[in-house]
Amino acid sequence: PSLTPFVDRLPIPPWIDVSAGRLVTIGAYKITQVLHRDLPATTLYAYGTSAATATYPGPTLVAKQNIPSYILFENHITDSETFLVTDKTLTWANPANGGVPIVPHLHGAEAESASDGHPEAWFTASGEHGPKFIKQKYEYPNCQPPTLLWYHDHTIGITRNNVLAGLTGLYIIRSTSDEPDYLPRGTNEIPLVIQDKRVWANGSINYPDIGISPLIHPSWCVGYGGDVVLVNGKIWPYLEVYPEKYRFRMLNGANSRFFTLSLSNPALQWIQIGTDGGFLSSPIYLSTITLAPANRADVIIDFSSLAVGSMVYMNNSAPFPFPDANSVVSPPAVASSVMAFKIVSRPRGSPAQFSKVPTRLAVIPEPRYNLATDVYRSFIFNNQYDSNGYMIKSLINSEGYTDPLTESPKLGTVEIWDFINITPDGHPIHLHLISFLVLHQQAFDQDAYTGQRCHLEVQFGQPGSCFTEPPRNLDATQIGWKDTVTVYPSVVLRIWTKWSPRVGGDFPFDATSGPGYVWHCHVLEHEDDEMMRPLVVHR
Ligand code: C2O
Ligand code: CU
Repeated sequence: PSLTPFVDRLPIPPWIDVSAGRLVTIGAYKITQVLHRDLPATTLYAYGTSAATATYPGPTLVAKQNIPSYILFENHITDSETFLVTDKTLTWANPANGGVPIVPHLHGAEAESASDGHPEAWFTASGEHGPKFIKQKYEYPNCQPPTLLWYHDHTIGITRNNVLAGLTGLYIIRSTSDEPDYLPRGTNEIPLVIQDKRVWANGSINYPDIGISPLIHPSWCVGYGGDVVLVNGKIWPYLEVYPEKYRFRMLNGANSRFFTLSLSNPALQWIQIGTDGGFLSSPIYLSTITLAPANRADVIIDFSSLAVGSMVYMNNSAPFPFPDANSVVSPPAVASSVMAFKIVSRPRGSPAQFSKVPTRLAVIPEPRYNLATDVYRSFIFNNQYDSNGYMIKSLINSEGYTDPLTESPKLGTVEIWDFINITPDGHPIHLHLISFLVLHQQAFDQDAYTGQRCHLEVQFGQPGSCFTEPPRNLDATQIGWKDTVTVYPSVVLRIWTKWSPRVGGDFPFDATSGPGYVWHCHVLEHEDDEMMRPLVVHR
C-alpha cells in the first residue's frame, strides 16, 4: 500500500514506575493496533499490564538506580503457533503442546541469569516451558549506570518473529546522583523506538514465508528489510515540539535494518550524550547517527532557533543490507523517511522549559589490559552456503548455539575479544551481562586472508600482514559503554570485557549460577539461525 507520511501523531507508550519495590506484572497479549491512519488494524503481540492496555511497543518501565525491580512476566498468547511463519528446520523452542513460546530479555541489564530471559527459558500460555526455565518473576538489581535498556523477546529460533510481531518495550534506569542537571525532561524527554516493517494492504505484517534456500530453510530469510519505518508503533509519525531543547531516548529495535539518521534542517545537529551503556564522557555533535539493531542513543536536539510552523524531517540513509547494498537479499528495500517534527508554540501561560547541554557527563575508565596475561579470544564470523550457493547460516568460529560452550570467563577478570568478519555484512554483536569498551578496529584484506596468503597475527606494515591500515581511532558508534557493537566486513574489531559490574565490586547476585547467558549477533535473522553462542561465567 502507498501510505502518506506524517499524518499520525507519534504515540508515547505508557510509562510505568517499577521502582517502588512492588511486583509489576507484564503480560504478552495478542492485540490489534492501527499502525497508520490509512491501514486497517494490524494483529500484533504486545506487552502490557492487561489485555486492554497492552501496546506495541510495550510500556516504558522506569527504574531507579540501586533499587531492584520485580517483574512477573506472563504469557497470554493462546495462538496454536505464531502468526508469522515458524521455520521448523532451525533450532527452535518447539513446544510439545504447541502455543507461542515467549521469554523476555532485558537487553543491557546486569542481572542474574535466571532473570535474563535465556533463549531456552521460554514458556507458553499453557504452562509448558523450555529446558532452561527457572521462573517468570524476574528481578533486576538496577546497580549499573543510568541508561536506556529495552526488553524484548528472546525465544530460541523465533526471536525474529516475536519481536517483529511487537514484543518490544523500553526500560530506563534513572539515577539521582549520576545524571546531569537540567537535561530536557518531562514533556521534553521523548522515547523513540525505531523499527521497520512491511505491511500488506489489509494491515497485516508481511514477513517472507519462502526462504532463500528453500530446501534447507523453507522460510528463513537472511535479513528482513521493511519498506516503512515505524516510530513508537506508528508508520512515519510526526511529533509537535516547542522551540526548545528535547532529549530523545532512541532505540533501533529493527530485526535487521541499520539506520543512519539525519535531520533535514542544516541548522540542527544531533547532540549525543549517551550510548548503549550510559552517558558518554562529554557530548558529541554529529550530523548523522548510525544505529545498528539494538543500539541506543541518548540525544538532544535544540529546536530553539526554529520558527513556529517549520518542519524538520528525520531521514535514514543506511543501505540495506548494511553496509553492502549489493548483496543478494530480495526484495531490496529502501526506507529513507523516519518521522517529522512540527515546531509549534507553547500554549499561553505554560513557561518554556529551562534546560542545557551539559559539558561533562560521565567518567569512562581507560581500559587497562595486558595481552600477555589476560585471556584473549578471537572469533571469525563466516557464512555457510548450501550446494546451490545460497547462504544458510552465519556462524562464529564455524560454531552455532548448539555447539559446546567455549566462552566461560572467570568472574572479575579482563578478557580481550577480537571479532574477525569475513562475511559481506556488518554484524552487531551483543554480549549479555556486561557492557564493554571498544579498543579499536582495523581493516584487512579478506581475499588474501581467506586465501591464506597473509596473517592477522602479523602487525600492519610487516611482511605477511593481512592488515591494510593501522588500528583506527574509535568512531562515534564505538565510544562509551557498549553492549552491542557493529563488526564491519573485512575488519577486526577488538573489545575489552571485564566480567564484573561497572559500579561496585561484585554483582549483587551470583552471576555464576543459573542457566547462564548468551552472546550473539543482533540481526535477529542471524541470531535465530545460530549466530549465537552460550556464555557462562565461572568462579
Ligand atoms: Cu537484545 Cu540477546 O539480546
Ligand atoms: Cu549477523
